This record gives sequence, structure tokens and C-alpha cells, in this order.
Amino acid sequence: MAVSNDIINNTIKPHGGELINRTLEGQERETLIQQAQDFPSVTLNPWSLSDLELIGIGGFSPLTGFMGEADYNKVVEDTHLANGLVWSIPITLPVDEAKADELNVGDRVALYGEDGELYGVLDLEEKFSYDKEKEAREVYGTTDDNHPGVKKVYEKGSIYLGGPVYLLNRPKHDEFSDYHYDPAETRQMFADLGWKTVVGFQTRNPVHRAHEYIQKSALEIVDGLLLNPLVGETKSDDIPADVRMESYQAILKNYFPENRTRLVIYPAAMRYAGPKEAILHATVRKNYGCTHFIVGRDHAGVGDYYGTYEAQELISQYEDELGIQILKFEHAFYCEVCGNMATAKTCPHDSSKHLHLSGTKVREKLRNGESLPKEFSRPEVAEVLINGLKEK
Ligand code: ADX
Repeated sequence: MAVSNDIINNTIKPHGGELINRTLEGQERETLIQQAQDFPSVTLNPWSLSDLELIGIGGFSPLTGFMGEADYNKVVEDTHLANGLVWSIPITLPVDEAKADELNVGDRVALYGEDGELYGVLDLEEKFSYDKEKEAREVYGTTDDNHPGVKKVYEKGSIYLGGPVYLLNRPKHDEFSDYHYDPAETRQMFADLGWKTVVGFQTRNPVHRAHEYIQKSALEIVDGLLLNPLVGETKSDDIPADVRMESYQAILKNYFPENRTRLVIYPAAMRYAGPKEAILHATVRKNYGCTHFIVGRDHAGVGDYYGTYEAQELISQYEDELGIQILKFEHAFYCEVCGNMATAKTCPHDSSKHLHLSGTKVREKLRNGESLPKEFSRPEVAEVLINGLKEK
């Protein structure tokens, strides 16, 4: 899809000013695919493959490859890239020592998926070791290996490979093909829709009434909503992406005006890094062309690792540098006295009047085929979830 620079720059500039495209096409692609047969190779796990994809399509602009040591250190220690741009989470390619020993700086490395497909090529500029505990502490705020993101850090190879990449084949996402758009395409989409202001909504859960409430509060002040669920790797007890995607279609169809919302997948892996991940999420949505981004309660959090508003507090420190406007919402709930959704900002009643269901409780009910209170979830959404989970 050809997208003019004017449109790309219509509303909000990508992070760093330019939308990166590392996807090769045509003869250039054919040639590199041929040559890659003779390159040394690395097999990417699903997490690294989704990182490669997001670099390739410009979701991680201004990154053009996996981070080298200078960027890595600056991001971990100071939440910025070496060039001074704000960036909160290292985007790195880990391999074990044996694999690293096989590779030389200056090599072109073929990047395969676990399915044996060739996805890209890395121009290897750097190999470096790193301190896992430090990364865990600085990025995730904890060194506890019960944290699902920290566990991943501890499990991965101890050497990072850095350098620019080329994306040769796209991970397919066939099941979500109607909702699969690259940042250049969503920018075009917003321009076509005449949306000057767009709020991005990150989620890894089905949309419940609290989500709907904050999305609609945002829609009162912007032109459109990009419902942008993460469909990459999540922890095993999260609701699977295909079931969630159906639930998003159900809520949009029944409760949102068609011309003011679009559903597009965000093909990233979930890190559960709370505050630091909120910054990454906002940065990427800026690249997709969003002018606003929602950060609610415990954004990208897990367990009790982060305070309810810690993500909002941290992102506030970087909001000016990020250049995307952050819409911060308090914990939303249904109040039985008010008879509607509310937050502490709008409801004077005691918390005993508020409906609270933990994520664990919700999943438990759904897996048992029990419906959810309509004050918590739209019945159409609950139905999709119950049926979807029954099939699994
Ligand atoms: S997340 O890991 O992707 O952040 P989730 O899908 O639950 O998890 O949340 C999506 C967005 O909605 C996040 O910005 C989160 O802070 C916000 N959110 C979730 N539940 C509530 C709630 N009850 N009140 C206010 N904001 C919420």
C-alpha cells in the first residue's frame, strides 16, 4: 500500500520524526531470500519474532534493528535511546553463548521462526553480554522470578545480538487478517476517516464495562478510537487472543458507533512491565498515528508488583517528550447507588456499593460457563467468552 509522506505526517509525527519501514519487497527481497540460504542462522522464539515484525513495520520507529549496547544501556539505566529520544523497554535479540560463538560481527544472519520459515535478516553489528538482574530491576521494577516478564528475562540467552534488520516475510496473523494493518496503513485509515484526533487503547483482556466507560469518556473529546488489542504472546492464563478478538467485535457491533471506532491488532508480546510498558505502549500507538493514549489503573500490570497509578505517574514524567497526549483514568467501577459506571472522581458512595470482580474471579466464572453480571460485562461479550473458552 503506497502511503504519501504528507499523510504519514498529517496528524502526529512518528517517534523520531520518520516512520521506519524495514520490509523488503520485489527484487531486493527475492535476492536477499536467495542469499540468506548461505547465511548463518538464528531461530527466533515468538517473542523475538514479534519484535522483528514491529521493527520491520515501523511500530517501533525509530528503531531499525535490535538494540546495540549503547542503546541498551541507556534505555535500561535512563529510559532513553543513546540519541536522547525517550524509550522505555530494551528491544533485543538474545541467543545463548554457543550460538553467539558461531557468529561474527559483520555477518549477515538469517532469522527463522520456530516454524522453519525465513522471516528476516540481521546485519550483525554487535554481540554483548548483559546483567539480567539489572534489566529485571530497572525495567520490571523487581527481580522476582514469579513475575512473568522477569521469568522470561532469566530464561533467555545471555548474549544480545545487535544490528539493523530486514523483514522478508511477514508473520501471517491469518485468523485476524481483517484487522491487520501496519502503522502506515492506520495513518492512512485515520486520514480517510477524517479523524484528526485518535485515542489508542491497549488491552490484553476482553473489553469490560470499565474499559468501555473510559473508552467512551475519551471518545467524547477525540474523533476516533483505535481499539488496539495485543495479540502476541501473553501468559497462559490470559484469555486467548482469538477469543478476545471475537469479543471485541461483539462489543463494537452492539455498543459503539461504527464510524468512530476501528479494531486493529497490535502484534506484540506482553511484557507485564507496568509503568515502563505503558511508555512503550504509548510510543508505539503514536507510530500507529494515535494522538492520544489511555492509561488507566495498573496499566500492563500483573499481580501486586505495581501501584494502581504507578504507570500514570511514570508516564507523566515523559509525556512532553513522548508528544502523544496521555489520557489518565482512575479506577472505574459500577456503582449500584449511582446506577452507572463511575470513578472516585464522580461517585460519592461507599466502596461496598461498588461492583468489584478480580481478573482471576472473572476467568474462573467464564471457564465454569457462568455468566457475568451485566454491570460488569455486556452480555454479548460474556456469551462470546463463555463459548470461546468452552471450545478451547
Ligand atoms: S493491560 O495489561 O493491557 O493494561 P487491560 O487490558 O486490563 O490490561 O487494560 C487495558 C487498559 O484499561 C489499561 O490502560 C488499563 O489501565 C485500563 N483499565 C483496566 N481496567 C480498568 C478499570 N477498572 N478502571 C480504569 N482503567 C482500567
